[in-house]
Amino acid sequence: MKETMTAAFLPGDSTVEMRTVTVPTPGHGEVLLRVKASTICGSDIRCIYHEHLGKGPEGYQGVIAGHEPCGQIVAEGPGCRRFKTGDRVIVYHISGCGVCNDCRRGYMISCTSQKYRRAYGWQRDGGMAEYMIAEEKDLIALPDELTYADGAQVACGFGTVYEGLEKIGINGNHAVLITGLGPVGLATGALCRKLGAIKIIGIDVVSERMKIAMDLGLCDAVLASGPDNVEEVKKLTGGFGVERAVDCSANNLARATAVRATRKWGKVVFLGEGGTVELNPSPDLIHDQKTLYGSWVTSTWLMEELVERLVRWNLHPADIITHRFPLERAADAYALMSSGKCGKVAVCQDEELS
Ligand SMILES: NC(=O)c1ccc[n+]([C@@H]2O[C@H](COP(=O)([O-])OP(=O)(O)OC[C@H]3O[C@@H](n4cnc5c(N)ncnc54)[C@H](O)[C@@H]3O)[C@@H](O)[C@H]2O)c1
Ligand SMILES: [Zn+2]
Ligand SMILES: [Zn+2]
Repeated sequence: MKETMTAAFLPGDSTVEMRTVTVPTPGHGEVLLRVKASTICGSDIRCIYHEHLGKGPEGYQGVIAGHEPCGQIVAEGPGCRRFKTGDRVIVYHISGCGVCNDCRRGYMISCTSQKYRRAYGWQRDGGMAEYMIAEEKDLIALPDELTYADGAQVACGFGTVYEGLEKIGINGNHAVLITGLGPVGLATGALCRKLGAIKIIGIDVVSERMKIAMDLGLCDAVLASGPDNVEEVKKLTGGFGVERAVDCSANNLARATAVRATRKWGKVVFLGEGGTVELNPSPDLIHDQKTLYGSWVTSTWLMEELVERLVRWNLHPADIITHRFPLERAADAYALMSSGKCGKVAVCQDEELS
């Protein structure tokens, strides 16, 4: 085993700093992973890369970046109960205390322990390195049929979307509107297809992203963001609007469009984080009997269910990755993701790079 490794840090001025650090040794209940794929999330750009804006759970504490890691165990600390060297695993990206009510439900994302809740790539070292330490309780087994790049997508994006779609329920009765076609919006299209949605309409402002959504067959129609979006969506749905809408943009106008372009009795989920929205509760929600959900990441058990479904559906989340970079070019990877002119961007090693 090497003694030192390369790792990426985000100083907060739209740059990436590569440092040489010691390869850590796993403690009790921990494993050391050879990171194979580590993808970049919109949250990394919004809260860390440009400026350290995040607070609380989104506060970056100067650790190794990357909260979407997937890799292979190369060493175990004492006390591991299930996973062992050689296992292929996804890291659920928030390590909770394990004993609060939220953790016991599997939602370590909302762990209430100030002392023990630490997210990988935010408050504890993440996946933008050759190796990383993870706690065994945070691991999800990666099925043989899925690649490490597939797994990295599950760690945050696909897991988040699966949770949101479970809340609103998607089936063959539904036309779905997706506002924001970044990686989270693209994942929404991919999962809605497999869940049987009959028509998928996407909206974005970046033409590259609109094109990726159509080229990958994840949307049946895409619209450029604008003031007529509600009418345009209604025109595409027999005058009624969609049964289900998912906001993946965090934009105030797009959020309002998602709600207003949803028909009576419809359901909407907000996944995009930060920002604001202005709604008029009576016409926008109450009189049309609509339900609006918020959804934050997912649970460990739903993530396990998702990887099982991905195999059953032969759905490969890595298909929405448009660019792969070696670790030493992590700076280029973050800059590209920040430009928005891409699908998902991944930093990869070993077999995931060739
Ligand atoms: N709820 C959760 O648990 C959770 C988990 C992961 C990510 N997120 C959030 O989900 C969002 C999407 O993540 P991502 O990685 O795809 O980020 P992203 O920034 O790449 O995607 C956002 C997309 O919205 C588009 N957009 C901006 N304004 C728009 C408008 N007016 N109309 C339509 N589209 C518009 C952008 O062009 C972009 O393509 C981010 O806010 C991220 O922080 C939430
Ligand atoms: Zn994320
Ligand atoms: Zn907890």
